[in-house]
Amino acid sequence: MSRKVCVVTGSSRGAGAATAVRFAQAGYDVVVNCTRDMEGAQATAASCREHGATALIVQANVASDEECRSFAARVEAEFGRADVLVNNAGTTKFANQKNLDLLDAADFHAIYDVNVVGPYQMTRAFLPLLRANPPGAVVNVSSIASFMGTGSSLAYMASKGALNALTAGLARSLGPQVRVNAIAPGFIEGEWLKQGHGEERYNALRDAWRSRAALAETIRPEDVAAMAFWLGDGATRTTGEVLVLDGGFRLGRA
Ligand SMILES: NC(=O)c1ccc[n+]([C@@H]2O[C@H](COP(=O)([O-])OP(=O)(O)OC[C@H]3O[C@@H](n4cnc5c(N)ncnc54)[C@H](OP(=O)(O)O)[C@@H]3O)[C@@H](O)[C@H]2O)c1
Repeated sequence: MSRKVCVVTGSSRGAGAATAVRFAQAGYDVVVNCTRDMEGAQATAASCREHGATALIVQANVASDEECRSFAARVEAEFGRADVLVNNAGTTKFANQKNLDLLDAADFHAIYDVNVVGPYQMTRAFLPLLRANPPGAVVNVSSIASFMGTGSSLAYMASKGALNALTAGLARSLGPQVRVNAIAPGFIEGEWLKQGHGEERYNALRDAWRSRAALAETIRPEDVAAMAFWLGDGATRTTGEVLVLDGGFRLGRA
């Protein structure tokens, strides 16, 4: 029997990189992906190899159907299988939600293309492989921005809400051979929010988050990885769910 294979989009850094390493630790071979950050992708692949995994890097934009299809063909040629697909790649535009003039239709479409059409196209391209060795699993990385009405921008919140709906719909469409679930993380420590807000505001938001969350913690990339691993490899009776990963932020403190 060949080793199981996990494909993680957007895995050159952040939550995707941690997820690729988590699956490698558990004995999977992994496929690392990004559009530009090849240095990061090489570092992720090297970490996976330290755990004995074969790690392939595929540079591809999930917003391009052609690239998704050649991505799947490459994985089939290299490994002959794909057991778990983690649709983690995401994008946003940071725009104060009180100023509606900061976003236009092109912003909405560009974000939707990566955050919603991307997971759809990747799932479709990998479906024959995911079905070949059931149970296959898809894990979509959403955001609590989809429920909270706050986040990096209105276009981002809307895209993640659509991703939650896509998760439920695909779970019906692809069962019983393939499970489809999503993770809705809150504040993840890392470059996404640092770049988006700048260091000072990032620190202030992190402290505010911790002072409100029931567990008094923000989320680490490794926390997303642990949940992605459980949804992808375990959770054999769970499909169509969006699991919140926010350290009890929505709950708040007594
Ligand atoms: N950070 C947070 O607080 C937070 C909270 C909730 C949810 N999320 C979600 O968690 C996921 C990961 O976020 P993160 O914070 O780990 O982000 P990150 O550190 O910025 O990493 C994003 C990854 O996605 C890749 N990527 C971006 N666009 C892509 C595309 N079109 N095709 C393929 N790869 C692409 C990036 O590489 P390239 O730049 O080379 O393409 C990078 O590897 C995203 O879906 C995000 O929406 C983040």
